[in-house]
Amino acid sequence: MDREFDLIRLLADGELHSGEAIAERLGMTRAAVWKALRRSCDRLGLPLESVRGQGYRLQRPVELLDPERILRDLSPRGRRAIARLEIHRQIDSTNRHLMGEVAAGAASATCCLAERQTAGRGRLGRPWISPFGANLYLSVLWRSFAAPATLGGFSLAAGAVVADVLRRAGVRGLALKWPNDLVWRRRKLGGMLLELAGEAQGPCALVVGVGINLRMAPEQGRTIDQPWVDLQEALGGTGFSRNAIAARVIDALIDALTRFGHEGLTPFLQLWEDFDLFRGEPVTLLLGDRVIRGIATGIAPDGALRLMTAEGERRFHAGEVSLRPDRWDES
Ligand code: BTN
Repeated sequence: MDREFDLIRLLADGELHSGEAIAERLGMTRAAVWKALRRSCDRLGLPLESVRGQGYRLQRPVELLDPERILRDLSPRGRRAIARLEIHRQIDSTNRHLMGEVAAGAASATCCLAERQTAGRGRLGRPWISPFGANLYLSVLWRSFAAPATLGGFSLAAGAVVADVLRRAGVRGLALKWPNDLVWRRRKLGGMLLELAGEAQGPCALVVGVGINLRMAPEQGRTIDQPWVDLQEALGGTGFSRNAIAARVIDALIDALTRFGHEGLTPFLQLWEDFDLFRGEPVTLLLGDRVIRGIATGIAPDGALRLMTAEGERRFHAGEVSLRPDRWDES
């Protein structure tokens, strides 16, 4: 694994590297270089090019996660608040890992990022496709003396502040689909998964997991079962740094978690509504095997989805909302 990662680190810049230079840097024979490169790139899903007589390069450069750069890019407050920054080359799921760390006594504000997840978790039991080096896979563990039920609303606060980070990075036309799907031109750019552990009366621990598609090639995302987009496309070619985005998201989450602990969801409601994708639209809510139709009228102070139905206004805390099919072609 270390040798594999050293190879990728060498090629990450997307430039040509001669077999000779690679062999010398890594203390391998030239014959071993090609074999090892092919094996590593195949395993990690990174397309490799070999240029006759010149060497090897990755088809696309990869900005690897760099803990020093992330710490440097954090605000002074974020740097003070963060308990530990873990970066994994590969992990099953950063959320699952931190849920395990809850029981092991990890401190509040432990952050975990991975280059790749082999069993990334999405909402509603779905998988989260997590190819190597392409996207952001980040989780933050947070401890609270409150009862777990009171932290449910953080789901919307997290969506609002992460959307705000991306808007500040230059994304125009970003929207939130209740509770916290990040959507650009009706295609999914990212999402959040919150998991809770603790006693009914508190204290409890919350793990906030954020996945944002950053630079994902079509073949890397081919098993995603819905329209998706990455930040590169949403920014229309404006450059960005994966590590800088990671730092801004960590900062935003830690700030929001702190504020939510004092003031609840109220200070985040307006920000969420600024990004509301479906406000005023006819929508369908899938709740288990029930289908509820109505007009989306925004969110309630506790984060519930408000729907104007034939029976009057109703509020929902769970379910999957989508635009009614008769409006699809207007998107
Ligand atoms: C969704 O379905 O929209 C939520 C996706 C959440 C994905 C992130 S990636 C980092 C963290 N670890 C996981 O296993 N899931 C979350």
